[in-house]
Order: sequence, then structure tokens, then C-alpha cells
Amino acid sequence: MMVLKNWDNKTWISSKKYIFSFHKFIKSKVRLNNNIKVLDIGCGRANIISFLQKKYKFQNKPIGIDIIKSKNTKKNIIFKKIDAIKYLKKTDQLFDLILIKQTIHFFSKNRIDTLLNLAKKRLNQKGQILIFLLKTKNNKIPSFKKMKTKLIESLKKDENLIKRIKKKFNKYQVSHFNFKVSISKSKYIKMIKNKYISCLLNFSRKEIKRGVEEVKSDFKNQIKFTDTLICINYRR
Ligand SMILES: C[S@@+](CC[C@H](N)C(=O)[O-])C[C@H]1O[C@@H](n2cnc3c(N)ncnc32)[C@H](O)[C@@H]1O
Repeated sequence: MMVLKNWDNKTWISSKKYIFSFHKFIKSKVRLNNNIKVLDIGCGRANIISFLQKKYKFQNKPIGIDIIKSKNTKKNIIFKKIDAIKYLKKTDQLFDLILIKQTIHFFSKNRIDTLLNLAKKRLNQKGQILIFLLKTKNNKIPSFKKMKTKLIESLKKDENLIKRIKKKFNKYQVSHFNFKVSISKSKYIKMIKNKYISCLLNFSRKEIKRGVEEVKSDFKNQIKFTDTLICINYRR
């Protein structure tokens, strides 16, 4: 499997402003207090749960799991380098909040069903699962032509995935998290070179180089857009 290493490495997704605004969004959906147990599936560098831990000083440190361990993974949480399904099968812990942010598209259809069944079983009474995916229609992620084609392809797949998730959760709420991004073109080009998003993972060096040239000529020096995520909120 191709792996994503630079997703939250010095991008807007790791910025204080983003994490703060994401926290505000979660707070509008979940009762956050220092008694709750949190699990972040596909946590990356664990920026989000690390912020929550600082803010709420949970009695039980939040657990973040990921198949990749980055050097600068946050230290104030419990990190486990493990496949999500393996972890959920072997743990006997129950959680109040299971976060699956921009990660579920890495799982095959059958594995998604398994993942969701297991996650549901790991919820406390009134526990919640929040799943975040890129908005599938009219997405504003700045792209060069080939990137756009790949992005649209993967967003089409995500639409089916969303249907699958909704089927699994017979009761759920859907909402949107919006974040206004303003990023310099040079920084965004660096992100593209680092293949920050999964639709770039299979691109050859030549394709990235061409894409970068396109971005250089087609975008203004400051790139502005809204990054929108769909949130599917399941409550036990
Ligand atoms: C796009 S990143 C999202 C990171 C973080 N949730 C965020 O939104 O900033 C997806 C993450 O899922 C992880 N991942 C992919 N497949 C996984 C699996 N089977 N089990 C656990 N983590 C996985 C990847 O390594 C990657 O860090």
C-alpha cells in the first residue's frame, strides 16, 4: 500500500488555527470533559488529540493509532503503531469518542464494514463515532489538471463509501466542517512536491514536475479556498 507521510507535516491541517477550529467543531457535536475516553483512528502526528489532551486534561490519555509512526508524533498521548482493525480486535477498552478523520478511504469495502462493526462495539453508552471525509461535490482543493482528474475519481469512490457508512449506521447526523485556507503558492507547491494528499501518491516525478509548472502559472501568489469536510456522526 502507498503510504501518506506528509499529510499533516507543516500544512494548514497542522496549523494552530485549523486544529483550534476543528476542536470547536467537535465541541459542537460531543460533550468534551476530562472523563471521556478518546480514540483517534489514523491519527497521523496526533495533532488533534494532543490539542484535546492539553485542553481537557483527560484522566485517560487519548489513544492514537496509525500504521505509520512519524518522528514528530505528539508525546502527550498514547500512540500505537498498528492497523486499526488489528487494534480494535484486540483491545477491550471502551471509548466515548472514536475519531476517524480523512482515513476511512484507505480501507477496502469489506474492511470498512469490519472497521465500523468493531468500532461500534468499542463504544461506551452514548459514545460517538465521528467520521470525516473530503466533501465529494464541488470540492475546492486547488489542483492541476491531472490531479483534478484523480481527485474527482477518488471523490466518486468516496460517495459510494459514504453510502456504505450510512447503511451501517442506521441512525446518524451529517454536517460540514469548513475551514478557510489562505496559503502562499510556494508553500502549496512544496505540499504538492511532498504528495500531501492521497490522489497524488501514484504520480511520477515527471507528472509532479509538470503539475507544479501548471500551478505556478495558473494560481495567484496567495491561494485561497475553503477546505470542506463531511462529518458523519453516529451515536450509540
Ligand atoms: C490523510 S491521513 C489523516 C491523518 C489525521 N487523521 C488528520 O486528519 O490529520 C490518513 C492516515 O491514516 C493512516 N492509515 C491508513 N490506513 C490505516 C490503517 N489500516 N490503520 C491505521 N491507520 C491507517 C495513514 O497512515 C495516515 O496517517
